[in-house]
Amino acid sequence: MKRNILCIGAGYVGGPTMAILAQQCPDRRITVVDNNAARIAAWNSDTMPIYEPGLEEVVKSCRGRNLFFSTDVARGIAESDIIFVSVNTPTKTFGQGAGCAADLQYWEKTARLILQHATTDKIVVEKSTLPVRTAHAMSRILHSGASAVHFEVLSNPEFLAEGTAIADLTRPDRVLIGGADTPQGRAAVAELVALYGAWVPPERILTTNVWSSELSKLAANAMLAQRVSSINALSALCEATEANISEVARAIGMDSRIGPKFLKAGVGFGGSCFHKDILNLVYLCDSYGLTEVANYWRQVVILNDYQQSRFVGAMIRAMFNTIADKRIALLGFAFKADTGDTRESPAIRITRLLVEEHARVVVSDPRALDNARKDLADLGDRVLFEPDPYAAAVDADALVFLTDWREYQALDFTRLLPRMRRPAFLFDGRRFLDHDALFRLGFNVHPIGSPPLSHLDN
Ligand SMILES: NC(=O)c1ccc[n+]([C@@H]2O[C@H](COP(=O)([O-])OP(=O)(O)OC[C@H]3O[C@@H](n4cnc5c(N)ncnc54)[C@H](O)[C@@H]3O)[C@@H](O)[C@H]2O)c1
Repeated sequence: MKRNILCIGAGYVGGPTMAILAQQCPDRRITVVDNNAARIAAWNSDTMPIYEPGLEEVVKSCRGRNLFFSTDVARGIAESDIIFVSVNTPTKTFGQGAGCAADLQYWEKTARLILQHATTDKIVVEKSTLPVRTAHAMSRILHSGASAVHFEVLSNPEFLAEGTAIADLTRPDRVLIGGADTPQGRAAVAELVALYGAWVPPERILTTNVWSSELSKLAANAMLAQRVSSINALSALCEATEANISEVARAIGMDSRIGPKFLKAGVGFGGSCFHKDILNLVYLCDSYGLTEVANYWRQVVILNDYQQSRFVGAMIRAMFNTIADKRIALLGFAFKADTGDTRESPAIRITRLLVEEHARVVVSDPRALDNARKDLADLGDRVLFEPDPYAAAVDADALVFLTDWREYQALDFTRLLPRMRRPAFLFDGRRFLDHDALFRLGFNVHPIGSPPLSHLDN
């Protein structure tokens, strides 16, 4: 008998992962539940609640067949055999560990809901990113009731990247499954391995103990973020020495021991995961008394923040040491291209730093303006929002590129320049534009990580 699958949490992870599972396993019935009724309504509508290339097609091909979205969490739990938990685990903002530890309140509420509504044995799969040894706490909560129901907790962290989620889920580098070394644990792991085996080659499915699996997710994000901070640290040195970070990145990336990926200098990493997962790792290290290890990883986050304030500092210096009352068109607010997600986007901090300097900021983005409005709501009319980059550029002193949207590479800069005040500045925070061509057009071009191309005397 094929067993029913439930996913609690219909967010950036729960929605796409279950859509691909439904597509690849048409004989399974998969339900995704969330207590956010608006989100569920959107999953059931023609407009997806998140922007992810290719997602809509997959959802529409399975929805109503073997993929269902619902707010009925209790019923979903009662009717399922395998429960993926994909709720949010943000950084704690209050009490002990505020600003560093993971806030596990949503996760714990979910565990209690499962306990309350389960009447048959369940495999409970941690999909959310969690501190190491959370499976132990989850198991204790699940077995705290009087019922004889058995819950087998597995760790199966998600490695998808927003913007490429569908490709990542369809052809994952690896699927990681951690389980207990007991007969029930091994049986549960085998069941999950068989589920993924429908489309993932066996050599890409790794099984480990639960704690290695939980830690590997934090470790993977920490290593990726560390590469970003490493190249960004070098970008500061490039600007000071007239070296060029793209040339340096190419030279070091061709070393097969280093490799070329994640060596792109820019205004820093963002997204809901890197920042919080590294802080989570820092908190874990601190709580095990590993102060030096905690400080090592903490520096990755400090460098990321520094890169943003450094970028704003460079803007102020270039624009004659004041940006007060200058109009700055900020192009790109999403934390990276191909997503509307703005969580922890460098653009948030950069906008706030510019507003502190009394600049008149106009934010534009092809996909993320609704989120940007929410992120900056407290700034009121000190920030304007303009979907059309050509309108944003009118009377602007500077264009500042913070997201490497393809649309921006295709902009007609000969139309943008005449709308701007002179001298016209262009700051490329993602190093994705043709700097020489822009300089020839008349822009004063300031790319992060290499010397400026300026028509002005120094
Ligand atoms: N976003 C990513 O790229 C990504 C990648 C890998 C892993 N992760 C991890 O996956 C987890 C989920 O991330 P996300 O980006 O999908 O978060 P999200 O905020 O987009 O979605 C989480 C959803 O869970 C729902 N929820 C919370 N408590 C609930 C409850 N008790 N009952 C029902 N629904 C509940 C929320 O309403 C929300 O819609 C996090 O731990 C994150 O670290 C995220």
